[in-house]
Amino acid sequence: MSRYLFFTIVVGILFLLTFSARYLLRKSNRLIWQKKIMDRLARFLPLFTLIIIVVMVVSIFFNIDKAFPFILSAVLLSVLIFISLIISLPLSLLTHKTAKIIKPLNKGRRNFIKGASAALPLFLSSSSVYGFTGSFNKVKIRQVPFYFKNLPPDLIGLKILHLSDLHLGSFFTLSDLEEMIPAMALHKPHLVLITGDIADDLTQLPTALDIINQIGYLYGGFISIGNHEYYRGFDRVVKIFNNGPFPLLLDQGVTLNIGKTPFFIGGLNDPKTLSADNHLFLQKSLEKVLNHDNHSAFKLIMSHRPAALDISPEHNINLLLSGHTHGGQVGFNGKSVFEGMVKEKYLWGKYRKNNTQMYTSAGVGHWLPFRLGCPAEAVIITLKNI
Ligand SMILES: [Fe+2]
Repeated sequence: MSRYLFFTIVVGILFLLTFSARYLLRKSNRLIWQKKIMDRLARFLPLFTLIIIVVMVVSIFFNIDKAFPFILSAVLLSVLIFISLIISLPLSLLTHKTAKIIKPLNKGRRNFIKGASAALPLFLSSSSVYGFTGSFNKVKIRQVPFYFKNLPPDLIGLKILHLSDLHLGSFFTLSDLEEMIPAMALHKPHLVLITGDIADDLTQLPTALDIINQIGYLYGGFISIGNHEYYRGFDRVVKIFNNGPFPLLLDQGVTLNIGKTPFFIGGLNDPKTLSADNHLFLQKSLEKVLNHDNHSAFKLIMSHRPAALDISPEHNINLLLSGHTHGGQVGFNGKSVFEGMVKEKYLWGKYRKNNTQMYTSAGVGHWLPFRLGCPAEAVIITLKNI
């Protein structure tokens, strides 16, 4: 009940703000935004928030718990559109005024700038809607080859299904997971490795593990822990893992025999905090993990945090699999647009430091329904010899 009241207040404020946004739009470019069709578009925003308020009140009254994801999505969508307007309106206003003032501009150029200034709020708002709807698209199966020098012949062509950050709950559900299984099984992975943040709704976790187990694999499947496992209740989560098909590797590792080649898989612990500087914690965890290694020919480490790449080369780790970042959920050309802009590094894709290579997954799911140029993904990694 309290969360609905919280969102009622948020949406109420948004309603007032979106109402003012319409006024500002009309001020920013009278010619365009006072046209009937554009004005209707601008009116839609406060109307949209009004609809959400009505749905929320009805949900509270009838105690409809299933309405929660819808309400959360609707709130997020109005916040996104509002933020787009907040960013674009001053810019739009400025370019519009500049076009008016600069005398040497001929009429054609001036009209072009005026048009662009009017289109800016529309462009950013529609990008928000596009990103929001993009979060509901099908999970992409991404095939990623990794090349190694002198890879033992037994490991050439080894296929690993890497799943991370499923965040099972409101926006990624058991039926979404079930839908993905045939496409993943088609690749016939030899190993299934899951790098944490599997479920935000723990009631879905046991079934989810059983569903993933249907994929089939030759050598095994393992889990490493994420921060959300701690947030949802460590003891409860571990109990579910212990009763499930995939062992949890927590500060531990196992050596598998792939043909005649010893292949080590270790799982790092998660520092729980949201700080990006977790090197000391990860270093200690990695040392504990490597105590379980007995001269394997290949070392693969699962670390929910991609920061482990900084400490892995000195331990001769061959391959790291990580997640956590969701790729920032906004990307361009296979890279996160936030790479280099935030303290957290290695946000999405392939990385290399000396002889250690890493893949950071953009995640199978998310808890925030917005993805623009950075689709949810399940990754098939294939080991290859250079
Ligand atoms: Fe995480």
